[in-house]
Amino acid sequence: MIDSTAEWNALRAEADGQLAKTLRERFASNPGRASELSIEVDGLHGDLSKHLIESSTVEALVALANAAGLKDKIEAMYSGEHINSTEDRAVLHTALRLPKGSSLTVDGQDAAADVHAVLDHMASFSNDVRSGAWKGHTGERIKTVVNIGIGGSDLGPFMAYRALEAFRHESIECRFVSNVDGTHLHQALTGIDPASTLFIVASKTFTTLETLSNARSARAWLLDRLGGDEAAIAKHFVALSTNAEGVAAFGIDTANMFEFWDWVGGRYSMDAAIGLSVMIAIGAENFADMLAGFHSMDTHFRTAPLDQNLPAMLGLIGVLYRNFFDWPTHGVLPYCQLLDRFPAYLQQLDMESNGKQTTLDGKAVVYDTGAVVWGEPGTNGQHAFYQLIHQGTTPVPVDFIGFYEPDFPEVDHHDALIANLFAQAEALAMGKTGDEVRSEGVADELVAHKTFPGNRPSTMLMAPRLTPFVLGQLVSLYEHRTFTQGVIWGVNSFDQWGVELGKVLAKAIIPELEDGSIELAHDSSTNALIANYRAHHNR
Ligand code: F6P
Repeated sequence: MIDSTAEWNALRAEADGQLAKTLRERFASNPGRASELSIEVDGLHGDLSKHLIESSTVEALVALANAAGLKDKIEAMYSGEHINSTEDRAVLHTALRLPKGSSLTVDGQDAAADVHAVLDHMASFSNDVRSGAWKGHTGERIKTVVNIGIGGSDLGPFMAYRALEAFRHESIECRFVSNVDGTHLHQALTGIDPASTLFIVASKTFTTLETLSNARSARAWLLDRLGGDEAAIAKHFVALSTNAEGVAAFGIDTANMFEFWDWVGGRYSMDAAIGLSVMIAIGAENFADMLAGFHSMDTHFRTAPLDQNLPAMLGLIGVLYRNFFDWPTHGVLPYCQLLDRFPAYLQQLDMESNGKQTTLDGKAVVYDTGAVVWGEPGTNGQHAFYQLIHQGTTPVPVDFIGFYEPDFPEVDHHDALIANLFAQAEALAMGKTGDEVRSEGVADELVAHKTFPGNRPSTMLMAPRLTPFVLGQLVSLYEHRTFTQGVIWGVNSFDQWGVELGKVLAKAIIPELEDGSIELAHDSSTNALIANYRAHHNR
């Protein structure tokens, strides 16, 4: 395992040294630090200089990556080897953004050609919806698109729809329903006109309880309001899936299905057919720009030397903090309201990928793996949880994300927003010493309260503007950061067996809630909870 390599042990010694040195000292002793520790990728600027690293740390991290075979594993992924070994699948989300005309043969099939055939199908359908050529059952044009999906079939498109508000079609609104809590569908259907609504049922497997429950209820709602004519389904329901049989069994014509493949993981699928709602909202050209942004970062990750490789360095620095400093969480703090769902999207991407305790060869890991990922947009977070980031007992490494230009400049608060962004990173890094506090005339008994330890690390990601291209770059950056960490930890970042047990138990409990005569054989706590629920409903 990686922890028994010389490189891991060397990194431990290196890490101990780095923890003892402050960011104040580092910046004071090296005026070139910011430029030496920054990486630029096609206009996306990553400043890593506020991390607890020196060039010796970068070397030790790269040595660890080499010991784990990161470069070879990147090649294995990009070339379609079955690196998702527990499911015997290739992992080819990078093929989703290969430029038109590329070719990539995987398992005897040209994946790049397949991808572009589906993109063309999506483009022609979304052009029709956007132009009004696609009509509902009663001849109305589509004004509302409701995406029904969960996890990777919801978080990515929902995040991107919100992020790219400035690029949206002015008279088509998209809504997103994920939770099996009926309130969510109720909210999505409130105030919309069935005659001008298109439902997109998004499910890789087409077996997911939440999605199928919501899709069935949406179908009943539509038929009820459009006179019960089943022919309406073809005009108001499309599916995004890898499971044509499941789609047909649900009653959606497979001609209205946009396919993807088992080599696209759910949480890596927002740029596959799962992005149809986004393409309808922003148009095929903007969607293509987003794919170009993904591809720009993919190319960088594949070709840049590891010490100049932004996703790899972010992943490796995360390993340093998780495994050598024992810091359990990772904050993502976009100074951009449009990225309000970005942390939630990253939670699935990262935690479902690397929340693992078994190595690829089936052994129990003996070191920590995935950190808890969380976050909120600034400046709101500043007035909520930043207290803990500044003065709490366990440092929280964070990623800040900002843009030089706002997407909606009419209300011009941008300088204030960005001043806060830069100030937070500076305050976290530099802190404020007791002497500095005292020199302001603060009473002795308050000095400790007003002192900031500093030395709290952050990444600063800056781009000119939140365009589709930049969003693609950002998502790809985090996909590859996640991959890098999975390679170091030796886990399979592309399965998610940990979500299965709860699903199976929920399926067993549904009939037990409905039928009071079923004998219960759970633990006494679960039995009592079910009994109380039944009693409440007189079952
Ligand atoms: O439960 C987890 C999960 O399998 C995710 O990995 C996936 O993104 C989500 O459920 C939805 O799955 P599907 O797209 O097959 O409905």
